[in-house]
Amino acid sequence: MRRQDWAVLGAAVSLISGTVALFAGTMALAVAFVLVASFTGVAARMWSHSGPGPMSHALRFVLWLPRGPHSPKRLLQILEPHRGERILEVGPGIGIHALPVAKAIGPIGVLDALDMQQAMIADLSARARHAGIANIAAVCGDAMKLPYSDSAFDAVFLITALGEIPDQDAAFSEFRRVIKPKGRLVIGEMMIDPDFVPLGELRDRALRAGFALERSSGLRPAYFASFRPTLAMAGGFPQSEHVIERHPDESDEPAVGIAFDSSQEKAARADEFETV
Ligand SMILES: C[S@@+](CC[C@H](N)C(=O)[O-])C[C@H]1O[C@@H](n2cnc3c(N)ncnc32)[C@H](O)[C@@H]1O
Repeated sequence: MRRQDWAVLGAAVSLISGTVALFAGTMALAVAFVLVASFTGVAARMWSHSGPGPMSHALRFVLWLPRGPHSPKRLLQILEPHRGERILEVGPGIGIHALPVAKAIGPIGVLDALDMQQAMIADLSARARHAGIANIAAVCGDAMKLPYSDSAFDAVFLITALGEIPDQDAAFSEFRRVIKPKGRLVIGEMMIDPDFVPLGELRDRALRAGFALERSSGLRPAYFASFRPTLAMAGGFPQSEHVIERHPDESDEPAVGIAFDSSQEKAARADEFETV
């Protein structure tokens, strides 16, 4: 197991012990446990940043925990999978989100699922078989070197997997390569995960790789963000052929890409862009 996984376990145990101590009326002990939980939580995050890597398969039970704003239902709302599409999930784990997406695009659509741990792929495949889902093509591989041809997918998504990838820029350039020009990229992150990637950092990285943030849902500590490929950089500004908008009922994260209709409009709005 990664040392950040041990630290997360330590934080969880300390928090539970702190709560028990609180209810038992031993205030000093409760405070001590909360301090230990905070310390191990910070250590987990630091170790995750300094040594990113895949979550241990031994911890897969945490993937079963209820996700609230990160539920498969919420993913379907932002990903908007259509029947017959070809979609890729990178880092599916045991397939909590993969199975519902495969159902939504089936039976003719295909969900490709790529995870670097064979044990995760085996679990996912077994769960799919058990659920009678036959349109998942699961393979073992690395997000930084995807074994797919250019423009192969209508959409790519990753849920709490991005922060585990050592070279996220390399992964993004692979996502850009395999997504169709009018395709979409959806990324979900949760702060409780030591590998959490904040939305602002994600947006900047995506922009550098040629993706504009279209919208986000959920809250900052547990969000989904949907991106569209931009056209080739022209005049230093990323060009999107999609109107980038913010969902009225969703986060207040500013949109960073705007579709230009004419060169006049382009010049007028150039000031509004965030450049990298
Ligand atoms: C925290 S788990 C999340 C699993 C699933 N997305 C979910 O939310 O239930 C992250 C998954 O990403 C996979 N992963 C990490 N780094 C990867 C990489 N470079 N390429 C492919 N998969 C990777 C891990 O093996 C693990 O299954």
